[in-house]
Amino acid sequence: MRFDGGMVDAVAALAYGGPESLGIIEVPHRDPRPGEVVVAVRAAALNPWDAKQAAGAAGTDPAKLPLRLGVEAAGVIVAVGADDDGAAPLGADGLPLAVGDEVLGTGLRGAQAAELTAPGDRLLHKPAGAGWADAAGLLLTGTTAAHGLHAVALAEGETLLVHGGSGGVGRLVVQLARRGGARVLATASEGHHDDLRRLGAEPIVYGEGLEQRVRELAPHGVDAAFDCVGTEEALAVSLAVLADPARLVTIANAGPVMAAGGQAIGAAPGADAGTAVRNAARVDLVRALGEGALEVEIAATFPLARAREAYELLATGHAGGKVVLEV
Ligand SMILES: NC(=O)c1ccc[n+]([C@@H]2O[C@H](COP(=O)([O-])OP(=O)(O)OC[C@H]3O[C@@H](n4cnc5c(N)ncnc54)[C@H](OP(=O)(O)O)[C@@H]3O)[C@@H](O)[C@H]2O)c1
Repeated sequence: MRFDGGMVDAVAALAYGGPESLGIIEVPHRDPRPGEVVVAVRAAALNPWDAKQAAGAAGTDPAKLPLRLGVEAAGVIVAVGADDDGAAPLGADGLPLAVGDEVLGTGLRGAQAAELTAPGDRLLHKPAGAGWADAAGLLLTGTTAAHGLHAVALAEGETLLVHGGSGGVGRLVVQLARRGGARVLATASEGHHDDLRRLGAEPIVYGEGLEQRVRELAPHGVDAAFDCVGTEEALAVSLAVLADPARLVTIANAGPVMAAGGQAIGAAPGADAGTAVRNAARVDLVRALGEGALEVEIAATFPLARAREAYELLATGHAGGKVVLEV
């Protein structure tokens, strides 16, 4: 099917650097190939990786500028790339994708844009009751959380220590671990402790004396630890309170954690990408969002045109949930 669109607004790094280097560019609409769909984006979430990429963490090739940003979004399908037999593409939930369907997805390139042409198998149908911002912000953090908990094989009745429980990923780790029947101790700034209690965690202030504060709550140590911050403190305290360093997983400090006998997940060299585990987690996460059994805390929303302000908030490292662009 042809789609008679015009130019599309998209967030991009105009140069490698901080939020000041970001801008809105116009890119041409692209018709879907077989297996692809075009999504009119309603919301696109930010992740720290977007800012790192804009700053040059994945290379500073000038030929790649302007570099479009964003990997996750939610919106409405406006065009479908049928195959030669006329069959519609299937979403990651196994359901056919049609014009008018409300969808969400992650692993999308340049997701922070008014419109997106993407592989259908990266999208799932959005539960009717879920908000656009929540849907946009669910899957990268949720699949990362599910992957990490799988890596440390957290079991019902065990105690998990989460470093950075108040962040985008941390809040999903807390909720999934609690749903699995674990006790959860989670570090955060004091201002986020009520949020963590509401999610069922026991909050702890990070910083000097952390090991002692963990031991006051768990005198015999913890069974597993999930590092969402990547500090030396998170590594040292985890090793001190864990019986087995292999039950520490990090998403933000791969080299040192692996050198200490722990696990790293994600895209860092040597880390486990866990594609199969993450893909398998998506359907459950979307279902839980629809049932109201999982929440995505939205720290702030900004219109697409104010993406720079959104990235400034992300850069504080203390947004307290997801920062989301609305279209
Ligand atoms: N490997 C992967 O697959 C993967 C996937 C997603 C994210 N990540 C990475 O994981 C990290 C967290 O991502 P996110 O989306 O959760 O980020 P985020 O929403 O910005 O959360 C940051 C967290 O770090 C805490 N924090 C900030 N400064 C700290 C400090 N000095 N000591 C201890 N904790 C501190 C914050 O606590 P307060 O706000 O309460 O102070 C908050 O809980 C980022 O580095 C990101 O790039 C990796």
